[in-house]
Amino acid sequence: MQKRRLTFLITAGPTIEDIDPVRFLGNHSSGKMGYALAKAAKRAGHKVLLISGPTDLEPPAGCTFIPVRSARTMLKAALKFASQADIIIKAAAVADYRPQKTQTQKIKKTATRLTLKLVKNPDILKTLGKRKKSTQLLVGFAAETNDIISNAIQKIANKNLDWIAVNDVSRKDIGFSAGENEITLISRAGNLCHLPKQAKTKLASQMIRLFVMSWQNKQ
Ligand code: PMT
Repeated sequence: MQKRRLTFLITAGPTIEDIDPVRFLGNHSSGKMGYALAKAAKRAGHKVLLISGPTDLEPPAGCTFIPVRSARTMLKAALKFASQADIIIKAAAVADYRPQKTQTQKIKKTATRLTLKLVKNPDILKTLGKRKKSTQLLVGFAAETNDIISNAIQKIANKNLDWIAVNDVSRKDIGFSAGENEITLISRAGNLCHLPKQAKTKLASQMIRLFVMSWQNKQ
């Protein structure tokens, strides 16, 4: 079969939800997993659109880089570019909640107790799942600490995914911020593929190869 240059839309990094001009809600995502996937897809000759929350990483050369901050700005960018993509991979760690109101001035530390009201953020992956074209491959990640496989399987159906990449984020040696990861890929049909602990860069190349094959089978 002739190799086709595909378009990948990849999200990476954390989202940041501002509380006031100096404080925010965030998480431990470094962007390494998502950036490794973007680089691997680029290296394999594909076009890559990388939507990223704030990280310390250099935008990968040759990728279209779309920096965002909050879950809502990530959603907006994802909706703008999703229709161009053959394969969408959501490696970003999106904040599930944001402060109901971002204060324009720094909150003073006068009160002994402070209650922060949070509201739910949109589920970007679920939104993309609802709009998925029959030719598109949609891949989610699952950051789990318990009942890892069963929780991830629920996300496949709930978010209309083709694949989910599950990692155990209760471990310090893999997952958030680490240079290595260990991933179980689960397909919509229930096939499991375990990728043992190794550098995120190596895992990313294997995942990109598998997703390209899966995309080809879907056409
Ligand atoms: O960035 P690193 O330091 O390299 O770490 C990599 C990682 C641990 C962040 C990555 O491997 C990972 O697990 N990413 C997904 C983290 C996550 O948000 O998982 P979740 O189980 O909470 O969400 C499931 C899926 O829904 C994810 O694809 C997520 O991007 C998506 N989601 C979640 C909430 C939301 N409001 N919108 C979403 O799109």
